[in-house]
Amino acid sequence: MLHNNLSINEKGNLAISGFDTVELANKYGTPLYVLDTDYVLNSCLKYKNLIEKYFGEGSKPLFASKALSCMEIYRIAKKAGIGIDVVSGGEIYTANKAGFPMENAYFHGNNKTDADIKFALDSGVGCFVVDNLDELAALQKETSARGVTVRAMLRVSPGIDPHTHKAVVTGSVDSKFGVAIETGQAMETVKALLACDNIQFEGLHCHIGSQIFDYNPFAEAADIMIRFIADVKKETGVTVSALNLGGGFGVKYTDEDADFDYEKVLSDIASSLEKACADCGVSRPRIYFEPGRSMVAAAGLTLYTVGSFKTITGYKSYVSIDGGLPDNPRYALYQSKYTCLIANKAGEEKTIRATVAGRCCESGDLIQEDVALQPCKRGDVLAVLVTGAYNYSMASNYNRLPRPAMVGVGEEGDRIIIRRESYDDIVKNDI
Ligand code: LLP
Repeated sequence: MLHNNLSINEKGNLAISGFDTVELANKYGTPLYVLDTDYVLNSCLKYKNLIEKYFGEGSKPLFASKALSCMEIYRIAKKAGIGIDVVSGGEIYTANKAGFPMENAYFHGNNKTDADIKFALDSGVGCFVVDNLDELAALQKETSARGVTVRAMLRVSPGIDPHTHKAVVTGSVDSKFGVAIETGQAMETVKALLACDNIQFEGLHCHIGSQIFDYNPFAEAADIMIRFIADVKKETGVTVSALNLGGGFGVKYTDEDADFDYEKVLSDIASSLEKACADCGVSRPRIYFEPGRSMVAAAGLTLYTVGSFKTITGYKSYVSIDGGLPDNPRYALYQSKYTCLIANKAGEEKTIRATVAGRCCESGDLIQEDVALQPCKRGDVLAVLVTGAYNYSMASNYNRLPRPAMVGVGEEGDRIIIRRESYDDIVKNDI
């Protein structure tokens, strides 16, 4: 099937990591997020080994936890011995509570408030990824008031168009993130950072966007960053010892997506780095990557119960499910493609086409339009594949729908890792 943790079992049901999804739906109810935790651990370890292989000791992956933030994920990252990227007080709190070693947390964001900065320092966050001069001044003020020193990287915009959805492009010059090389503001901010007494310069960061299938923009970004590192050396005499090249590697959501070879992209980037370093006469820095989607997307799927199948004569057919935009807003936001199937008829042929609609009171609440499916009826279990990234983490309570539970499957069996929200949870902050 689409990914190698998926299969069809002897009952003709969809299975993930060998667990029958229809049994999971019956046992835990729907809508239900399912996460193959062994897959997540293996992808952390795979990245860790490949990054060490191609970029040497000290190079490492940092899981971009905006893709999926919950305590179990940070426990897996800790077990794998990798770092994390966190973007808010909430992610910091969750990681800390899960016992993650916070010195290996990298704090991102284009607007860290004073409260965020204080909370991150209180929580022992190891490294700030500074976005701009205002943030740098605020960080210097707080660290000097406390008499502490913190590590920082600077987010630089390399000026690259990676050909992906415009909502997830981040490395172009006109971007809300970071400081641009092209305008001279990156160099200006490096100098300001080096002049801060309480901030220890760890290196530079860039991230060009997400769900990118073309390998070239990654190699190009690496080349641009090494040339900038050479300029920094020339202008300040400082050798940049670490370079974070962000995340963004593509993931296969449907059979139409290309296969993405993670080892090949890393080896291409390594060659580009070697060449740029030789050209510019700088030594290769430690390299960090921040994969989010490619670590967890294929580890997840979502199960729903079909409520109705309705054909509008002369138009099209709708399958209504008991979840939708609140648990997966990605089609509504980006028209993202997904593979859908009827989990209890997974072995049967997909002979119809239908639009999978959520249960919210708005027409845009769709999971997928005009998708191939097995014929289905009320009570069937509909699975949406590859929902491990940016689904739970982007979920809302629109229409006061409780967020689904997440069940982990893997070596430890099947167990709840995030409880289903109750109606009491929904009103808990109402006065
Ligand atoms: N590092 C930084 C600084 C980022 O901003 C991101 C993603 C990543 C790493 C991880 O990128 P990934 O490997 O997951 O592509 N909500 C959108 C995706 C937004 C990505 C935001 N930044 C979606 O559902 O497609």
